[in-house]
Amino acid sequence: MTNKGRVKVGIIGSRFEGDIHAASFQMIPDAAEVVAIASPTPGNAQKLADKYGISRVFTDYKQMLAEKDIEMVTITAPNHLHAQMTVDIANAGKHVVCEKPLCMTLEEADLMIETCRSKGVLLMYAEELFFTPKYVKAKEMADQGAFGKVYLVKQAEKHFGPHADWFWDVTKSGGGVFMDMGCHGIAFCYWFLDRPRIETVYCQMATHVHTDKTKGEDNSICILEFVGGAVGLVEDSWARRGGMEDRIEVYGDGGVTYADLHMGNALPTYSEYGYGYAVEKAPTTKGWTYPVFEELWNYGFPQEMRHFARCVRGKEEPQATGEDGRVVQEILYAGYHSARIGQKVGLPYRPKAVRMPIDLWLKGETKG
Ligand SMILES: NC(=O)c1ccc[n+]([C@@H]2O[C@H](COP(=O)([O-])OP(=O)(O)OC[C@H]3O[C@@H](n4cnc5c(N)ncnc54)[C@H](O)[C@@H]3O)[C@@H](O)[C@H]2O)c1
Repeated sequence: MTNKGRVKVGIIGSRFEGDIHAASFQMIPDAAEVVAIASPTPGNAQKLADKYGISRVFTDYKQMLAEKDIEMVTITAPNHLHAQMTVDIANAGKHVVCEKPLCMTLEEADLMIETCRSKGVLLMYAEELFFTPKYVKAKEMADQGAFGKVYLVKQAEKHFGPHADWFWDVTKSGGGVFMDMGCHGIAFCYWFLDRPRIETVYCQMATHVHTDKTKGEDNSICILEFVGGAVGLVEDSWARRGGMEDRIEVYGDGGVTYADLHMGNALPTYSEYGYGYAVEKAPTTKGWTYPVFEELWNYGFPQEMRHFARCVRGKEEPQATGEDGRVVQEILYAGYHSARIGQKVGLPYRPKAVRMPIDLWLKGETKG
């Protein structure tokens, strides 16, 4: 196995996030190169391979794991597959980058962390908000004392719902919008405040719009109470019309900052006729729209992948780990349970025999 130069990467999955990973690695050719891609639907992986000049294509990811030169494998498959894939990658002696949310259960999180530890490979949690330039700037200012003592951190992510069927099937996703995007906000508040212990979680959630499509919630509000008194407020929606919104607000006793991920790096645009592409999940390009430039860079994906590649080379310490993903997983459990009982839930919260987080809200009604 090579131990210098560009990190050789394999990607599992070839649709939405697989494309983002491939595009991001192409932007950091000094640090890494994608040499293989695996996904089960014949033709899909080949299409992505052709688009990005990736030489090896597999329909079975286990065959890809047999390739000796691959050092790091990124997982962009549905949530219920993350744990088994991580274990298989680690057993093949390769470093793991796992997309959010880490997995379905806390037992899986433990297994993923322990397997990677025992095999001597890194388990890196792909939370790109830790690398989003605007949000990194907000954190830098907070760390320099710009806002004094920070008492409230808010993160919101909203759109009209995901692109692929499996997100709506809770047996594959593990939950609705709180699982899918609340995991970003939870991780963000925790990271922004320098990972203080979380004492309580309160959640309200409902399915307002998409009852025909899913048992999952399409709107959620979550309040986190941290030791030391700071509060996190995480708002997520799959019921919000008008495309993608991703925002943060930070309040301290000495100041405040607001950041909208898509505004300020967008071109306020009016068009009678429409045009090619505006921004992720924009429903139209006619009328008033806000097309962004350098979209992936604004999200932080290439920066995240460069960091992970540098970790594999021992040049940086992982800033987003399996342990972070496990903290988020426990909050997902506590949040769903809180929404069911209508009260805040104290941590630690670790019920046994949970099949997926949303069962704690749906009273175990989902069928696997
Ligand atoms: N970080 C982010 O902002 C972000 C954004 C979107 C998705 N994601 C995460 O990425 C993951 C994938 O989401 P997506 O939007 O790309 O979904 P998708 O449906 O667009 O793509 C999923 C891919 O996984 C492949 N797949 C399914 N079963 C497989 C198997 N057994 N072996 C190998 N590949 C298999 C599919 O063929 C497909 O190529 C999810 O965990 C999701 O939460 C993260």
